[in-house]
Amino acid sequence: MQDLGGIFMRVYINDRWVDGDDVRVSATDRGFMYGEGVYESLRTYTKRIFAPRQHYERLKRSAEIMRLPFHMSFEKFRNILYEGINDLEQDCTIRIMLTAGDGEKPNLFVYIMELQSPNEDLYTYGVNVGISRYRKIPRISLPPILKTNSQAHLRLARQEKEEFYEIIFLNHEGFVAEGSMSNVFLVENGTVVTPSLETGILDGITRNVVMELAKSLGIVLEEKTIDVDELFNCSEIFLTRTSAEIIPVKRIENRVLFENEPGGITSLLMENFRPHIFNEQSLW
Ligand code: PDD
Repeated sequence: MQDLGGIFMRVYINDRWVDGDDVRVSATDRGFMYGEGVYESLRTYTKRIFAPRQHYERLKRSAEIMRLPFHMSFEKFRNILYEGINDLEQDCTIRIMLTAGDGEKPNLFVYIMELQSPNEDLYTYGVNVGISRYRKIPRISLPPILKTNSQAHLRLARQEKEEFYEIIFLNHEGFVAEGSMSNVFLVENGTVVTPSLETGILDGITRNVVMELAKSLGIVLEEKTIDVDELFNCSEIFLTRTSAEIIPVKRIENRVLFENEPGGITSLLMENFRPHIFNEQSLW
């Protein structure tokens, strides 16, 4: 299982950058005590932050669902992030966390970490994924679009499937939902399919980008409910997430999808991903 963060570099708390040694946050922050917090993970490409507007909107939406006051403008948000990365040469992961604080006043954290992209081999040879026996929390209990710090169920599922790079969750009705940290796509008879939002998944930013990319390449795309059997009958599977873009799946449980190289549509999307995002003004 991949770790999401690399070497920790600096942190911003509420209104200023603080030294690593000077991080004093109330020990009774409800974010730490009860997981009452929301977050976003962003990445940079040579000093440019990918999709800041989209992550800002999603953070705001999560904060509203949790009723955490978050009144920062997009311009301020963007400026803080650029302050955090602009003297750093390497690509970074930016983790933003808004916790409930003492219950009255939330705390905002911005962590800058070295980007831990998956090893190049994973793109060449693909990754192995498992299917969790834990189900996604039903949407009537927890809105899937809420990116919350409360992730205990993910820890349980990872412990169970430690040998896999990623684990796929089914929703409470048994349909394919998403990974613990990524969205899932399949290729069936030349069509790219992905679980619909109604299945109860996060509307991943890379998922949206990949759907747009597929359309621009004339690939037929469908959002639908996906049965587990389809994972064992489709021709290709790939995962998407901000920090890793598109990752081909080589094996799902005991089923091997390809021997040498990832399938045709997955490769086509992988090759065109960066040209597409660098060309898309709304993502910068
Ligand atoms: N999470 N689904 C889930 C459950 C996720 O946690 C994530 C990303 C995604 C992919 O979303 P995006 O394309 O916007 O990165 C889908 C990040 C990696 C995290 O937990 O830090």
